Amino acid sequence: MCGIVGVLGKHEVAPILVETLKRLEYRGYDSAGIATLADGRLDRRRAVGKLVNLSDLLVHDPLPGKSGIGHTRWATHGGPTVANAHPHRAGGVAVVHNGIIENYKELRAQLSGQPFESETDSETIARLCEHHIAQGLSPRDAVTRTVNALEGAFAVAFLFDGEPDLMIGARKGSPLAVGHGDGEMYLGSDAIALGPMTDRVTYLEEGDIAFLTRSGVEIRDADGKLANRDVRMIAGQATQIDKGGHKHFMAKEMFEQPTVLSECLAYYAPGDTVAIPGQSPDFTDTDRVTMVACGTAHIACQVAKYWFEQLAGLPCDVDIASEFRYREPPISGRATALFVSQSGETADTLAALRYTRDKAATILSVVNVAESSIARESDLALPIMAGVEVGVASTKAFVCQLGVLANLAILAARQKGRIDAAREAELLAQLRALPGLISQALMGEEQIRRRTAKLAQATSALFLGRGPMYPMALEGALKLKEISYIHAEGYASGELKHGPIALVDKAVPVIVLAPRDALFDKTISNMQEVMARDGRVWLVTDAVGAAQAGDGVWDTLVMPAIDPIFAPILYAIPAQLIAYHTALHKGTDVDQPRNLAKSVTVE
Ligand code: M6R
Repeated sequence: MCGIVGVLGKHEVAPILVETLKRLEYRGYDSAGIATLADGRLDRRRAVGKLVNLSDLLVHDPLPGKSGIGHTRWATHGGPTVANAHPHRAGGVAVVHNGIIENYKELRAQLSGQPFESETDSETIARLCEHHIAQGLSPRDAVTRTVNALEGAFAVAFLFDGEPDLMIGARKGSPLAVGHGDGEMYLGSDAIALGPMTDRVTYLEEGDIAFLTRSGVEIRDADGKLANRDVRMIAGQATQIDKGGHKHFMAKEMFEQPTVLSECLAYYAPGDTVAIPGQSPDFTDTDRVTMVACGTAHIACQVAKYWFEQLAGLPCDVDIASEFRYREPPISGRATALFVSQSGETADTLAALRYTRDKAATILSVVNVAESSIARESDLALPIMAGVEVGVASTKAFVCQLGVLANLAILAARQKGRIDAAREAELLAQLRALPGLISQALMGEEQIRRRTAKLAQATSALFLGRGPMYPMALEGALKLKEISYIHAEGYASGELKHGPIALVDKAVPVIVLAPRDALFDKTISNMQEVMARDGRVWLVTDAVGAAQAGDGVWDTLVMPAIDPIFAPILYAIPAQLIAYHTALHKGTDVDQPRNLAKSVTVE
């Protein structure tokens, strides 16, 4: 979390830094700040809350200078206050940091003579560097020594008094990219940030330190050796971010789903067979699929478990990344380990991937950001092709993750001899029908908008589903919690009577996700159990399902009919729209919900 930027420019940098931070605000928005160098002297401005507060401050109190660094914060150590906001400054050193310095207490104790001003781990970096400079080291050597003393995860950018043509960046555990301009150089947490300034980007590797001047960059690796890193061309489209006429990024991203899913499916299976361009995964000798992810990506894995088990007959484990490696699970030497992450930078998922290295036969990842750490550390990274996702609530990335995972399950089923060509073609045809069905489901938006007015008054809600609709119930609840702040839980509907049914009363809306699948009748029986206890049921099913379910439900949302196996992909749409419109009724911040950040790069 946290976004960082640095510019050695030809023009005034403060407005450039603020514009760039806007593109990084998805990484955190508790506070923001910039530091610039004018006439050889550092100065900074910092403000609590959204970036707009920093912009307002700069209107009244501008900051001149052509070199600068900036930061947007997701608070870890110390609350969102001005004192805790970055850049941190010690003497002639200013620093912005993304990550966590685990040994900051020890370092702080060693620097006890220094006047610490914040509660953060990050200030330690500035103070340690300043300490080394005071001992006579050059900024380059001081940074190298500082970085070598840090434990934990970090991407950092440094600026120094009296050094208008020097900026130093370092990376260990958190992403950092160098941007190449025309007589200008940049640092940024990702290529999206640098998009308006340059399409030429170098991704730093673990342990790299980059010494930038306006005429170029020198990169040293973890051993201090000169490192030759590629300069890559980033397609403009890959860094484009706008709301496309929608009120929120989330709305734009929901309505992009038919297009991006269709492109994704065409990439993996242009015809009647799964044919992945380039290297294709091989499940022939795989005895187990171990899937690990966080949040919505973890829910995508839970859905995919049904497909791998039912279609390919492959046993499948699904783990939350933050729990996985601490459990020290044994990994079969014939296992395929599969990591799913939109950002490709989620710290827990990355650590889980590293745990399986040298244990599993193959490490696959399903990612949206092709240059991400998870992609680069996998044996094979499979793109979901969703395009930039800005809304903190994951929507199009989830649907595309499911699209890729469905293709992988079909591929595994074929390689395991569980399906013939005709069945493969039939499954792919069902997948190809989804973008059209999703478009139809999105047309139900107005109906959902009106009905969520009542849901917005609830303080608690339940989502129920059976089979692969159970993870979709979890997804519906996660989305609702995340952006409307209404407490919500997802349950396997058959499990309700083992405890959670005690929660049911007239005040708790119960949303039942019930496509007409093999478990439909059982789901409806569970729904009746809820209604018998005065529960207010909102049934989500197709027209025939609605008729079969009978009377007595509080409300029904009629979905297009769908063959059940890939129904979870379609039922993601009402889950998203319900959360979105409930949030709009409540007036919450849909794209930047409180306490959250899009990319979770700390444990
Ligand atoms: O970038 P990742 O897919 O690894 O992120 C995982 C979760 O943080 C993410 O899915 C989160 O749960 C979303 N905000 C949910 O909408």
